[in-house]
Amino acid sequence: MHTTVGIIGGGPSGLLLARLLHRAGIASVVLERRDRAYVEQRQRAGILEQSTVDVLRACGAGKRLDAEGLVHDGVELRFAGRGHRIDFPALTGGRRVTVYAQTEVVKDLIALQRMEGDPLLFEAEVHSVEGVDDDRPVIRYTHEGQERTLTCDYVVGCDGFHGVARTAVPAGAATTYERAHPYAWLGILAEAAPNYDELIYAHSDRGFALASMRSPEVSRLYLQVPNGTDPAAWSDERVWDELDHRLGRAIPLVRGPVTQKSVLPMRSSVTEPMRFGRLFLAGDAAHIVPPTGAKGLNLAAADVVVLARALAHRYATGSGELLDAYSDTCLRRVWRAEHFSYFMTTTLHTDPAQSPFETRLQLSQLERLATSPHAEAELAENYCGLPL
Ligand code: PHB
Repeated sequence: MHTTVGIIGGGPSGLLLARLLHRAGIASVVLERRDRAYVEQRQRAGILEQSTVDVLRACGAGKRLDAEGLVHDGVELRFAGRGHRIDFPALTGGRRVTVYAQTEVVKDLIALQRMEGDPLLFEAEVHSVEGVDDDRPVIRYTHEGQERTLTCDYVVGCDGFHGVARTAVPAGAATTYERAHPYAWLGILAEAAPNYDELIYAHSDRGFALASMRSPEVSRLYLQVPNGTDPAAWSDERVWDELDHRLGRAIPLVRGPVTQKSVLPMRSSVTEPMRFGRLFLAGDAAHIVPPTGAKGLNLAAADVVVLARALAHRYATGSGELLDAYSDTCLRRVWRAEHFSYFMTTTLHTDPAQSPFETRLQLSQLERLATSPHAEAELAENYCGLPL
């Protein structure tokens, strides 16, 4: 098979790129290793920046998002026994965020691709990517028990940090900058109506907690836990009790059946450059942010918007100028989001090796956020995201 752009990975970045290319009249094929049900259920983040919402609308995926997404005008920071609300529109000239789960974005994009797009193959396992440094890249993969090849003009790796695309970059051609964090998140999904209107990010004497939501009926909640924690060690009751303690509100959470419980590692990582020859890396294949601040999905969307524009420019004019600028253009935004995610993570979590001095510094930083409009605006601007 031959196509213009071979896309490895059918998560949000691969699917969104396929939609954007389809709109620009550029052919693509998406190869996804997992089956459709798995991809549609994989629990991930749930906060969309305004520019991500705009892109989804522009590519026809805005209908359910507009009907079911919850528009949020702020978040609450809790620390030292009190709460402080950050008002996004007031601090950013009207920007806000939308709560709409990544799983729903993925379902909407798959449905569209199936209705009017180019091929999207599930259970297509890529083994190798060859020839990205000359002008005929080849992707070798297995589908329906058959070994197949996909030749293309360009390959885009949207297959995550552990994907095949990253391994096609020769050693020495790229540098990965990394930071592991000395804690993880225990996340639960619960059939319980959130009794808070906006997300709550809490610093506490027992570590970080976050109250988020998926809908008016479903809560999504997180606790900082030690690396290597077994979710089975946390009974539902223990999770709820700990959340109530750390969130430190006057009103306890509404409890309900816990339908999912899992532990998420926390990592920061950036690979530079994001391009090697005819191979482009996008989303988690190129960079990982810890989830505090909800930047991962939004960064992935920003990458593929930049790439789709560059490819459209290349096919409309013959000029590779924007493709040449892809990595630098994306990395500016990536490093800003890395810094913000790192700031949110290290300000709100308790490092097991942390001294009381460092805890006082965190509280001073949170106090500053609660008293200085400049500090608040800095957080709000980063949280809502820079325009694309
Ligand atoms: C989520 O709802 O999954 C979520 C929200 C905010 C974050 C991280 C995760 O910072």
